[in-house]
Amino acid sequence: MRRFAFLLTTFAAGLLSAATVPNFSEHVYPIVRAKCQGCHQPGEIAPMTFTSYRDTRPWAAAIRTAVSRGTMPPWHADAQASRAFHNDRSLTAAERETLTSWVAAGAPEGPARDDPAPVSTDAPDKAWRLGKPDLVLKVPSFQVPAKGDVPYTFFIFPTKLEKDTWIHAAEWRIDKRRVVHHMNAFVRPPGSSYVEGYPAGVAFVPTIAQRRNGRQGEGAFARRELLLGYEPGYRPIPWGPRQGKLIPAGSDVVFECHFDTNGEETVDASELAIYFAKEPPVERVVTLSVQNMIFTIPPGDPAYRSDATVTFAEPVRVVSVQPHMHLRGKAMKIEAVDPAGRKAGVIDVPRYDFNWQTTYFLRDPLPLAPGARLDCAAWFDNSPNNKHNPDPRTAVKWGDQSRDEMHIGFVEIAFDARVDADRLLR
Ligand code: HEC
Repeated sequence: MRRFAFLLTTFAAGLLSAATVPNFSEHVYPIVRAKCQGCHQPGEIAPMTFTSYRDTRPWAAAIRTAVSRGTMPPWHADAQASRAFHNDRSLTAAERETLTSWVAAGAPEGPARDDPAPVSTDAPDKAWRLGKPDLVLKVPSFQVPAKGDVPYTFFIFPTKLEKDTWIHAAEWRIDKRRVVHHMNAFVRPPGSSYVEGYPAGVAFVPTIAQRRNGRQGEGAFARRELLLGYEPGYRPIPWGPRQGKLIPAGSDVVFECHFDTNGEETVDASELAIYFAKEPPVERVVTLSVQNMIFTIPPGDPAYRSDATVTFAEPVRVVSVQPHMHLRGKAMKIEAVDPAGRKAGVIDVPRYDFNWQTTYFLRDPLPLAPGARLDCAAWFDNSPNNKHNPDPRTAVKWGDQSRDEMHIGFVEIAFDARVDADRLLR
C-alpha cells in the first residue's frame, strides 16, 4: 500500500513537472518580449539586454530575485487602490510564476528557435519612437560641469508657428541620461510674463521670483503651459484620439533644464519632437500641477504628510497622473471627490521611487463634474531609515535640488477644446 502510494506520488510529480516546467523559447520569451524588452534591448535604458536565450540566461538568478521582490518591471501603482492604466507594465501573477519557476527549474532553453529572437521594438524609426516628427526643437548644447550643483538652466526656442497649432504627441530624446535630472518644455504664448526679457537660444538662470511671479490678472495658462516633462523612467505616449495640446500662434517653447553632475564634464544636446494633429481635436489636454509648496518636514520624521487639492469649475476627464517628489518621497495618493463628497481612488503609490517617475495613463479617462476635486496626499520619509535620504538631520522645504523636496501630482486632464483653460479651476 505504502509502496503504491509512493509510486503514485512519483508518477504525479513527473506528470506535473512535464506539464509545468516552463522553458525559455515557448514560455519565458513571450513574457520577456512583452514586459521587459521595452527597456532591455540594445540602445535602451537598461544596462543588460534580454533579446535571446544567450543574453538572458546569465541573468536568470537576478530575474528571479527582481521579479519575486517586485522591483522589475518597475511599476509602483497599487493595483487595488488605483484605476487601470493602459501603460501598465507589471506582471500578472501567472507571468511571475512562469518566470520564477523557469529559473527554479534551471532555466532551460526548450526547443531551439531557428530564427534569432527578434527584438521587439516600438520605435518605427530608431531615432524617434513615435515616428518621423513634424518639428524638432533642439535644446542648445549645454556644457555640464564635472561637479557641484547646476541651477535650473533655461533656454527659449521661438517656434515661429504662424497659426494656432494642435499637436497630438511630443517626445523627448535625451542625449546624456546620466546628467539630465529632468527637462520641462513649457509653451509661452505671446504677451506672457514668464521669464520675459531674456534672449532666445542662450542659457540663462532666472531668479526664483522671476520664474514664479505672473503679472496681475494674468491667467496661469496664458502665462505658460507644460507641454512635456522628462524624468527618469520616461516613455513617450501620444494623447488619445481626438485629443491634443495647443501651441498658440507665435508661442515660444521655454526649456527648463535640471542637470546633475556625475564627476565628468559632459555636453548635453537633447531634443524634443512635436507631432501635429491631423485634424483639430475635440478635447484639449493640459497638465495641472496639484501641488503644495508650503511645508517643513521635520528632521528625522519617518512619515510627514502634505496635502494638495484642486476643484474643477468645468467638466473634465483625468487622462494621466504622475507623482513627483524627490529623495524623501515615500508615498503618494490621488483621490477624486465628486460634488456629493464620494471618493474614488485614482492612484496609490505606496512605495515611491525617485528613479521611476512614471506617468500612469488611465485606461478609461475618469470624468469629473464641475465642483469635483482631486485631492493629492504625499508622505515623506526624512528618517535615517530612508537609504536615499541625503541628510536626516535637516528640516526640509520645497526647493529645486534633489536634497530639497517637492510635492506635485502632475495631472493631465482633457476638456472641451473650446473652453478657455484658465476657466477650468475654481
Ligand atoms: C521601464 C524599463 C524596464 C522594464 C520594463 C524592465 N526593466 Fe529591468 N531594468 C531596468 C533598468 C533601467 C535596470 C538597471 C537599473 C536598475 O537596476 O534599476 C534594470 C535592471 C534589471 C535587472 C538587474 C537587477 C539587479 O539586481 O542587478 C534585472 C534582473 C531586470 N531588470 C529584470 C527585468 C525583467 C525580468 C523585466 C520584465 C519582466 C524587466 N526587467 C523590465 C529597466 C526596466
